[in-house]
Amino acid sequence: MAKKKMSILDFKKYKEEGKKFTYVTAYDYTMASIINDSETEVILVGDSLGMIMLGYAGTTAVTMEDMIHHTRPVVKGAPDTFIIGDMPFGSYNESIEQAIRNCSRLMKETGCDAIKLEGGADYAETIKAIVKAGVPVCGHIGLTPQTTSSLGGFKVQGGTPESAKKLIDDAKALEEAGCFGIVLECVPTVVGEAVSKAVSIPIMGIGAGPGVDCQVQVTQDMLGMYGDFKPKHAKFYAEVRKVMVDALNEFHKETQDGSFPTEENSFNKQVDLSSIYGGK
Ligand code: KIV
Repeated sequence: MAKKKMSILDFKKYKEEGKKFTYVTAYDYTMASIINDSETEVILVGDSLGMIMLGYAGTTAVTMEDMIHHTRPVVKGAPDTFIIGDMPFGSYNESIEQAIRNCSRLMKETGCDAIKLEGGADYAETIKAIVKAGVPVCGHIGLTPQTTSSLGGFKVQGGTPESAKKLIDDAKALEEAGCFGIVLECVPTVVGEAVSKAVSIPIMGIGAGPGVDCQVQVTQDMLGMYGDFKPKHAKFYAEVRKVMVDALNEFHKETQDGSFPTEENSFNKQVDLSSIYGGK
């Protein structure tokens, strides 16, 4: 069944109607087309591709070229899903001009619907200028993976009244700057709820508890593909890695015992090869 692609105007409407939605990552055509067949409303081509696709330890080495290269096939594979491209570390922090140039480039060269960037109130002026330039922006606060070194590692944020208040203020500043939604990562459930209540745009939580407006997951985490590692905020909805390893082992076994390929997988046209062997 074809689904209707969410539009930028639907985000606020969903929040007003209390309608929850889901937001997952993709970095290639095949995964995008699978997600497009599901009821998922939003795909993020996240800079988490640094770890998931490129095997890096973090996201800081991901470049604009990496993001463009991976966002294009996702746009092709998921025509009925709203697609957000992630701005990589260092691509929007130098100046407002650099931010507008790179955000416009990601939209123009990939055809994605919006961009996401990390940062709170300090980025409000930059975001205002990007939105004014015609690029829809999704914010990202809480645990911001691009700056984990400054945060002292992958740690839950907003664990004190002061830091929780800062997140609420950041969310208000991002709404005011023109963001259509905000990713909120790894905060206590009560803080997720409070941030969601403080703004009229959807708060898209990953590790932010059930009181937010949308749930975000890295697809490889929730499908059990990445390995044994399961972040606390993730739930394995399937064990796809096991299914894949089992299938590869079955292929290997059948190749060794000769049960693959069968006639069904072979081209059975008869060809007279006697001339090659001189009639012998
Ligand atoms: O890059 C990413 O996958 C993200 C999600 C964790 C929201 O930013």
